[in-house]
Amino acid sequence: MTRILIAGCGDVGSLAGVKLAGDGHDVWGLRRRVDALPPEIQTLAADLTSPDDLRDLPCDLGLVLYTAAAGGHDEASYRRAYVDGLQNLLAALVEQGQAPKRVIFTSSTAVYAQNDGAWLDEDSPTEPGRFTGQLVLEGERLLAGSPFASTVLRLGGIYGPGRDGMIERLRSGHAKRSPDWTTRFTNRIHRADAAGALAHLATMNAPESLYLGVDSEPTTEADLLKWFAERLGVPVPDQVSDPQRLAGSKRCRNARLLATGYRFRYPSFREGYSAQLERT
Ligand SMILES: NC(=O)c1ccc[n+]([C@@H]2O[C@H](COP(=O)([O-])OP(=O)(O)OC[C@H]3O[C@@H](n4cnc5c(N)ncnc54)[C@H](OP(=O)(O)O)[C@@H]3O)[C@@H](O)[C@H]2O)c1
Repeated sequence: MTRILIAGCGDVGSLAGVKLAGDGHDVWGLRRRVDALPPEIQTLAADLTSPDDLRDLPCDLGLVLYTAAAGGHDEASYRRAYVDGLQNLLAALVEQGQAPKRVIFTSSTAVYAQNDGAWLDEDSPTEPGRFTGQLVLEGERLLAGSPFASTVLRLGGIYGPGRDGMIERLRSGHAKRSPDWTTRFTNRIHRADAAGALAHLATMNAPESLYLGVDSEPTTEADLLKWFAERLGVPVPDQVSDPQRLAGSKRCRNARLLATGYRFRYPSFREGYSAQLERT
């Protein structure tokens, strides 16, 4: 039994926490609104940006997962979630003489600026052009420079129940496609697999320092939208989105994660969205 702290314990953190608690671990969830935590997870109401709130962490932490997400799409919110909050937590762990075996950080594939549909893996260059990727990368580097062994899981776009925006837009006829939709590759992971992979890495003896957390099938936006249109019986979107909002095109490889023995519940969008469509 390991005492595990999940800091910024939201959707993915809670799902991983419930799995880890079910496996017999002593799981604590830290967030500001702790009433949203499931009963399997013990609560710690704290704001990661307030060092005073972190003075009394549970003792003898064996493992720390950092799954906080920015509360807004602005630079200050990203800095608070991925840099300041992490820095405060690491400082609190050091100050309290805690010796977790490992700290695991959920990062993002936004750290890759590649835009030509190239295949990428954990060794590919990270030169993000936008603050989103830059600040998440700053968090990764902060963690790597800490005294703790660490692992980073770079997640693709998370989808699944509760994240129905695209399905609703398609159903209501408000969905748009990118100008380069036939060549723009997107990468995603179902929330069950984001949490599953996180819990899996948490229980490994010696995980590597970096994994890509994406499913097994990067997909062009065109293939995705055409699949949806057929399944939902709606037209393929003909409105084109603002070219300013171009989001990049890359194909992230999950071979390293698969090599750990992790098996995806939803290896591609087809399985994941089929299950989601049955519920909506
Ligand atoms: N969504 C995506 O497509 C995507 C893609 C790549 C990577 N990721 C990463 O995956 C991870 C999990 O995402 P998720 O969807 O599970 O996020 P989420 O549901 O939004 O959970 C994040 C949690 O962080 C907590 N939090 C934020 N600021 C905090 C603060 N100052 N102090 C304490 N807690 C704070 C929030 O709880 P309170 O508000 O109650 O404090 C929230 O519950 C995140 O690291 C995210 O950046 C997400």
